[in-house]
Amino acid sequence: MAEREKVTVRKVVGMKGKKPIVAITAYDYPTAKIVDEAGVDIILVGDSLSMVMLGNPSTLQVDMHDMLRHTAAVARAQPRALLVADMPFLSYEASVTEAVKNAGEFLRVGADAVKLEGGSDYVDVVKAMGRAGIPVMGHVGLTPQKHKLLGGYRLMGKSAGEARSIIDDAQAIAEAGAFSIVIEYTASEVAAEITKRVSVPTICIGSGPACDGQILVIHDVLGLSDASPPFAKRYVDLRSIMLSAVKAYKSEVEEGKFPQDGMYWHMKEGEHERLAELLKGKSVTSA
Ligand code: KIV
Repeated sequence: MAEREKVTVRKVVGMKGKKPIVAITAYDYPTAKIVDEAGVDIILVGDSLSMVMLGNPSTLQVDMHDMLRHTAAVARAQPRALLVADMPFLSYEASVTEAVKNAGEFLRVGADAVKLEGGSDYVDVVKAMGRAGIPVMGHVGLTPQKHKLLGGYRLMGKSAGEARSIIDDAQAIAEAGAFSIVIEYTASEVAAEITKRVSVPTICIGSGPACDGQILVIHDVLGLSDASPPFAKRYVDLRSIMLSAVKAYKSEVEEGKFPQDGMYWHMKEGEHERLAELLKGKSVTSA
């Protein structure tokens, strides 16, 4: 059984350089219970829920309502892990005031912190959230909410110029008060450089082994995604396992094998005969 002492923002920061930080996404109550029992350090209610849970083409389609609903479901699992909620597209870009109010809503439904995509442009937002007591996880490199501007879901930081600006972004939000930084699909040398230069933990996805921690989308880990990114690792083919279970159920119903004895119950002794008397003469309604 995993240790039950709550993982706090302070503890996550203290893990830098001491223990690899393990993060994974979850979007619902039962999954949150399982990943927490496995002992992960951070559960992220990612806006990836747009694709993996709701079948949308990108993260742009989810809003505050969707994210709050799923964050609340995960929070009801009362995880020991630090619970981080992703700020959805357009919930923090328009104004600092709106960003702080929206971030606060996540803490109200049980999140411990929020994550937002972006670097130097969001320094004001990260600082204002800090003043309001809202811990912020940054996210640099590939920022999927900006995939249209970036030219798709591509590996970031391959050139020195782009690498430099990702490093500047990471340093800017770390200095603004972010307690950790996700680095997504960025050349591993760049992620290593950021990890050396910032005092807070870096948590990588598709950015190599030099970071302070790793994060994956649970549907990729379990083999439930329609399409996984090249950096995801599938640890089990749950889709096949689910498919055979549902097929077995279908066959048993069709062959009259389900429900079996012990899975259905009877009237009290003599009551069936009494019922037959009561129904005598009553016609049977047909569909
Ligand atoms: O939404 C998400 O799942 C994420 C991770 C990929 C870090 O932001």
